[in-house]
Amino acid sequence: MMIDKRLIGIVGQSRKYIAGNVAYQWCALLANLIMMIAIANLLTNLYQREFEAGTLILTAGALIVAIAIRFYCALQSSRMSYLSSKTVKKTLRRMIYEKLLRLGASYNERIRTSEIVQIAVEGVEQLETYFGAYLPQFAYAMLAPLTLFVVLSFVNFPSAVVLLICVPMIPAAIAAVQTWAKKLLAKYWGQYTALGDTFLENLQGLTTLKIYRADEYKNEEMNVEAEKFRKITMKVLVMQLNSITIMDLIAYGGAALGVIMAITQFIAGNVGMAGCLLIILLSADFFIPMRLLGSFFHIAMNGMAASGKIFALLDLDEPNPGDIVTLDPAGGIMIEGLDFAYEAERPILKNVRMDFPIGSFSAIVGESGCGKSTVAAILMGRNKDYKGSVMFGGSELKRISEDELMRRVTYVSHQSHLFKGTVRDNLRMGRPDASDSALWEMLERVKLADFLRSENGLDTLLLERGANLSGGQCQRLALARALLHDSAIYIFDEATSNIDVESENDIIREIHALARTKTIVLISHRLANVVPADQIYVMDQGAVVESGRHETLLANQGIYQRLWTAQQNLENFTNQEANA
Ligand SMILES: Nc1ncnc2c1ncn2[C@@H]1O[C@H](COP(=O)(O)OP(=O)(O)OP(=O)(O)O)[C@@H](O)[C@H]1O
Ligand SMILES: [Mg+2]
Repeated sequence: MMIDKRLIGIVGQSRKYIAGNVAYQWCALLANLIMMIAIANLLTNLYQREFEAGTLILTAGALIVAIAIRFYCALQSSRMSYLSSKTVKKTLRRMIYEKLLRLGASYNERIRTSEIVQIAVEGVEQLETYFGAYLPQFAYAMLAPLTLFVVLSFVNFPSAVVLLICVPMIPAAIAAVQTWAKKLLAKYWGQYTALGDTFLENLQGLTTLKIYRADEYKNEEMNVEAEKFRKITMKVLVMQLNSITIMDLIAYGGAALGVIMAITQFIAGNVGMAGCLLIILLSADFFIPMRLLGSFFHIAMNGMAASGKIFALLDLDEPNPGDIVTLDPAGGIMIEGLDFAYEAERPILKNVRMDFPIGSFSAIVGESGCGKSTVAAILMGRNKDYKGSVMFGGSELKRISEDELMRRVTYVSHQSHLFKGTVRDNLRMGRPDASDSALWEMLERVKLADFLRSENGLDTLLLERGANLSGGQCQRLALARALLHDSAIYIFDEATSNIDVESENDIIREIHALARTKTIVLISHRLANVVPADQIYVMDQGAVVESGRHETLLANQGIYQRLWTAQQNLENFTNQEANA
C-alpha cells in the first residue's frame, strides 16, 4: 500500500538507511519488552510482599540497561531517518536540475518557471517524511505487533490472538480513505502551483498594475484564488483529522480490549498476576506503531502527490540534444521551405526562404506580428518542431547541440536580461576570461565608460534586470556583453526599441561596424537602420514577400517602398516639428 516502486527505485541508496532505521526501532522495542517484563515482575513481587534486595537490584539494573538501549536506538533511528531523507532530497534536486539543463533554453515552452520552483523546493521537501518516517514505519508497523504476539503467546495465547487480529483494522481504515485522499491531494497541489503562478506573475507586473490601477482588481482575483486554496487546504486537514480520529478509536479500543482480555483470563485462572500485568502494559504497544504509520501516512501522501508533479517534470519530452558539436566555421545559415505554427491551425511562418552567408549583413523587416522574432527564435534553437530546413554551416539545426549553437550565435533582443551583481560579472558572461582593460575598451565602444567611471566603475552594482540603469544604458551594456562574446553570428531583434535616439544611433553604428567582420541578422522596425544591409528580407504575414538591397527594393515599388515612404514622411514631420 502506497509504496511507490519508481520513487524508491530512484533513490536505492536510501534503502540501507531505511533498513537501519527499522532495525534500531526493533531493538528499542526489545529493550522496551525487557523493561515491561521487569516492571510486571516487580509489581507482582510488591503486591505479594515477597521482594528481596537481590531481585530489586536486578530489576533496577535491567531497567537502567533497557532505558539506555532505548535511548541509543532512538538516537540512531532518527539519524538514519535524517540520512535517508537527505539522500533523497539531494538526488531528486540533482535530477530536476539536470533535467532542466537537458530541456535547455526553451524549457519554458514546456513548463512554467514558478511550477519548477515550487516542485524543486517545497515538493521535494514534502518527500522527507515519506522516506525518513513513512517507509521505515511501514516495515516496523508489521514487525512490532508480530514480535509482541510471539512474546505474549507464551504468556496467554487467547489475549495475544485478539490483540493481533485488531491491528490490521488500522491499515484497513487508511486504505478506505486513500482513493479519496489521493484525488483531494492532486487537486490541492494543482491549486497550490496555480496560486504560485498567479502570484509570481502579478508580483513581476506590479508596477504595470499600479499604473493602470488594476492592482485592486488583481488583488480581488488573487483573493479568490487564495480562498480556493484555503478551502482545499481545509478539506485536506478535515480529511486527515477525521481519519486520525478513526485510527485513534481503533487503537485505544483495541488496547482496551486487550486489558479486558487480560483481566478475564486472570479471573479464569489462565494467566498469573505477572502475565496479566504484562499484557496490560503491552497491549497499547500493539497499536502504537500502526497508529503512527497512520499519521505519517497523510504527510507521506502529500509527498506522493508532490512526487507525481516531480515525475511529470522528469518525464517531459526533451529536445534532441543534438549530435553535432562543432560546426563548419565557414558555413553560413540557409533557411528553406520553413513552416512553423505555435498552435495547430494557425500557421505563423509559411515557406520562408532566407540565406545568410558567412560574413554577410542581412536584415529582416516587416509589420508587427509578421513573424520576424519567430524566425530569430528558431535560429536560437527554440520552437524546434518546425518543418522545412534550417542549415547552419551545412548541418541541420535540429541536430546541432545547444552548446555549439550558443557558442556560434549571439542573440540580442530589446530586453536582454541583466543580472543582479556587478557590471563586471554581467560583462564576463560574454567572455569569462576577459581582463578589466578589455572590459573598459568595450565600454568605451558602447559609450558607457564615462557614466560608469562616475559611478563605481566595473564594480557598479546592478539591481535585478538592471533596474537602476536607464533603458539606453541597459541596451549599451547588453551590446558590450554581446560583443565580448565574439561569436561568428549575431542576431539583433529590435535591439534599439524603446530607447533614446542617441543610444539607438550609437548602437546601430556599432552593429554596422560589426558587420564588417561578422555575420549579422538585424531585425528592425526602423528601415533607416537597414539601408546598408547586403540583403533585406521583407516579411508579410509569415511569408517573405520581397528581398534584395535597399535601392532595388525601393525601385520595386512594393511593400518595402510603401513602408519606407511612410516612415520618411513621419520622420520629416517630426523633424519639422522639432525645428519649428
Ligand atoms: N509564444 C507564442 N505562442 C503563440 N503565438 C505566438 C507566440 N509568439 C508569437 N506568436 C504569434 O506569432 C506571430 C508572429 O509573432 P512574432 O513575434 O514573430 O512577430 P514579429 O514580426 O516579431 O512582431 P514585432 O515586430 O511586433 O516584434 C504573431 O501573430 C503572434 O501572435
Ligand atoms: Mg518581434
